[in-house]
Amino acid sequence: MAGTVFFHVSMSLDGYIAPESPDELMGRKWMALQAWLFPLRFMRENLGLGGGGEEGPDDDLARATFERTGASVMGKRMFDAGEHAWPEDAPFHTPVYVVTHEEREPWERLGGTTFHFVRDGVEAAVDLARDAAGDRDVRVSGGGETIVQCVNAGLVDEFTVSLSPVLFGSGVRLFEGVDAERVTLEQTSVERSPRATHLSYRVRRA
Ligand SMILES: NC(=O)c1ccc[n+]([C@@H]2O[C@H](COP(=O)([O-])OP(=O)(O)OC[C@H]3O[C@@H](n4cnc5c(N)ncnc54)[C@H](OP(=O)(O)O)[C@@H]3O)[C@@H](O)[C@H]2O)c1
Repeated sequence: MAGTVFFHVSMSLDGYIAPESPDELMGRKWMALQAWLFPLRFMRENLGLGGGGEEGPDDDLARATFERTGASVMGKRMFDAGEHAWPEDAPFHTPVYVVTHEEREPWERLGGTTFHFVRDGVEAAVDLARDAAGDRDVRVSGGGETIVQCVNAGLVDEFTVSLSPVLFGSGVRLFEGVDAERVTLEQTSVERSPRATHLSYRVRRA
């Protein structure tokens, strides 16, 4: 359904989506968390790394997630972590609405990605993303704080958690602060590959 708002993140078995500090983003645990994504053919294409790469269910999922996305919403800490790491041809190729307290002009990258900085909160950002997405969907890219605000505001229709076989022990929790009383979940699919288990849910307001 066009205009569906969803998120799709990689999560450690103990519920974390990122290490405590952005300095650890290339560390062992982060690499294990994202190990299902890095070798994929789709990832190589999307990052401009050339041909090759693995095909199969993980690749199909990553590609389908990208193709359904007409615009993204992200938190400022995710943006900060990516600003210097993403290539000039940033891997979104759509408008991206960054929720922040900072005032900043739009930042246009090669290949169709423009980062817009939204200071009116997640509902405004999702509204803008919906308009920009046209007949495609809106992805709440992350991180945890932004996803939880969107869930608590009743903005998220469905999500996929790609569960990676790694324990973090500490870090950024996916559902920290979620208003659990307001949400019920319906499991819609489970797919497994040697590197991850992809769990998908539809969200219903309780
Ligand atoms: N595992 C995965 O698949 C995955 C996916 C995405 C991201 N991540 C990781 O998640 C981490 C970031 O997550 P996070 O939870 O720490 O932070 P986040 O959600 O990315 O960003 C939080 C920040 O966004 C701004 N913000 C959020 N809501 C706002 C609002 N309503 N109004 C104004 N500003 C608002 C604030 O920044 P300011 O006050 O500074 O503006 C806030 O500190 C990164 O390390 C990233 O790599 C992991």
